[in-house]
Amino acid sequence: MLIACWSAKGGSGTTVVSVALATVLARSSPGGALLADLGGDVPAVLGLPEPAGPGLEEWLASGASVPADALSRLEIAGPGGLHVLPVGAPSSTPPPPGTTGRAEVLAAVLAADPRPVVADCGCLPAGAGLAVAAAASVSLLVLRPCYLSLRRALQAPLRPSGVILVSASGRSLGRSDVEHVLGVPVRAVVAVDPAVARAVDAGLLPTRLPRGLERALRHAA
Ligand SMILES: Nc1ncnc2c1ncn2[C@@H]1O[C@H](COP(=O)(O)OP(=O)(O)O)[C@@H](O)[C@H]1O
Ligand SMILES: [Mg+2]
Repeated sequence: MLIACWSAKGGSGTTVVSVALATVLARSSPGGALLADLGGDVPAVLGLPEPAGPGLEEWLASGASVPADALSRLEIAGPGGLHVLPVGAPSSTPPPPGTTGRAEVLAAVLAADPRPVVADCGCLPAGAGLAVAAAASVSLLVLRPCYLSLRRALQAPLRPSGVILVSASGRSLGRSDVEHVLGVPVRAVVAVDPAVARAVDAGLLPTRLPRGLERALRHAA
């Protein structure tokens, strides 16, 4: 199962939700879970050093001469049964001939993986992030319930199949407003919780996943 997480506004909590969801899924899956980083912040949120080797960007730019299963060689081991596909470094030159359609191949390979796969597609996905989000069986918009975020979500280049609401108390927009405006269900409500921010800042989110975050996301996918 391929689950894509994305946002319409930076700082929504997309990477935190992606890491937490993959951690929850890895715990209940014997082969662990795969976390594809198309946004670039996953290692930092996992508390891992920045990967020095190649990643998804290099694979996408390599063309059909590199077999699809070369992706698995890019995986790095994370904590708690997580396997991470790092984003790598984007090329400064235009994509070489023969690399068109690689984003769709990536999406198909991720969708066919026997493990649960979570893709952090970042803010307003484009390119490979958009292809992966479009191919996902579950496409989750991570959203703070405010007018500006909702407005941007409506202008996004894709529609989600569900919403993860990252909500502080006292907001005027609630679950039903978001469902009414976007026309898709809210799959989970994640509280804005200082314990989550502290775990992220300490690089300990997957190993000390705050209870409330785990409970909120257990049935989100
Ligand atoms: N549920 C939450 N409670 C408290 N802080 C959060 C929560 N989710 C995210 N944050 C904080 O918000 C910031 C942005 O989160 P991040 O996941 O990087 O957003 P995005 O990937 O959408 O840009 C980070 O500093 C993170 O620690
Ligand atoms: Mg992010």
